Amino acid sequence: MKPRRSILSVPGHVAKMHTKALASNADIVMLDLEDSVPPDAKEAARRQVIQTLNAPEAATRALAVRINALDTPFGYRDLLEVAEAASGHFDTVVVPKVNHADDIHFVDRLLDGIEMHTGTERPAGIEASIETAQGLEAVSAIARASRRIRTLVFGIADYSASVGARIVSISGHGEAEEEIYPGHRWHFAMSRIVMAAKASDVMAIDAPYGNFRDASGLARAAGMACALGCDGKWAIHPAQIDTLNRVFTPSREDVERAARIIAADDAARHEGRGAVAVDGRMVDQATVRLARRLLDQARHLDLL
Ligand code: COA
Ligand code: MG
Repeated sequence: MKPRRSILSVPGHVAKMHTKALASNADIVMLDLEDSVPPDAKEAARRQVIQTLNAPEAATRALAVRINALDTPFGYRDLLEVAEAASGHFDTVVVPKVNHADDIHFVDRLLDGIEMHTGTERPAGIEASIETAQGLEAVSAIARASRRIRTLVFGIADYSASVGARIVSISGHGEAEEEIYPGHRWHFAMSRIVMAAKASDVMAIDAPYGNFRDASGLARAAGMACALGCDGKWAIHPAQIDTLNRVFTPSREDVERAARIIAADDAARHEGRGAVAVDGRMVDQATVRLARRLLDQARHLDLL
């Protein structure tokens, strides 16, 4: 799968930021119609997003569009208008506040019809944002709800609101969490999402880190997400992209070790042996699978 280490969110109505985002080195640019756009700018944002998606600068870009939630008067219109007017010009639709598999069925069927109508050869994928108690409860069914599903995304701020968790920082996005809870406050929700995503062979993406001036806090939060199995993290500011790309890229040592593991395993097979030792550590078939997964990631990032 193509890497999704960094996903830069850009408010749909701010054209100046679109230009900047398209020129950035984020793996994905996500044009947002939801919470970064005020209600009275929703329609203007939709028009601007369509214009940006159809612009020549966007043609070579991996692009996502976040529609409004389906329980608002904007969500269905976002999907209909953007998918018709910019058919084949974006990779995925991000659906916020997915509560059950039926939300995904609805988006999937609507996209089926629109794509038959436009005749596009680039069908859209779906990214399901899990940010409510209901959504987390149904996360496995959501992950399996459509072949279009590409990622499950964790929305920390809305999830906190949904379960009534205490707000720690102004943005509620993973800052200074340790001060009120020992360990990692979002461990369960993130691991649950990762498990559902990986069981359906899709990616797991972490919520953005709100304090965009705090590069070390971001690196720490991203490192924890990576350790739990997340494949990338949203960014809300261009200054966050390089840190995310670095944290979610396997290190040279990791890649070299994985190659040694595969080589040792190949040799062991030839000699009819099972577990072997590499760098003084036991290597069995589970380790080999991990190594293959890492090399696969490295291949997609042109690191080999
Ligand atoms: N995408 C593209 N460009 C962005 C950007 C983004 N997400 N965030 C900031 N920039 C640009 C600014 O326009 C500015 O450009 P300029 O130098 O040409 O004027 C430059 O980066 C520096 O921005 P800065 O002054 O540091 O930040 P700001 O105060 O203008 O904006 C935010 C701060 C948080 C309002 C802004 O980053 C933002 O809107 N982020 C996205 C929020 C979002 O999408 N939320 C929903 C998902 S959770
Ligand atoms: Mg949200």
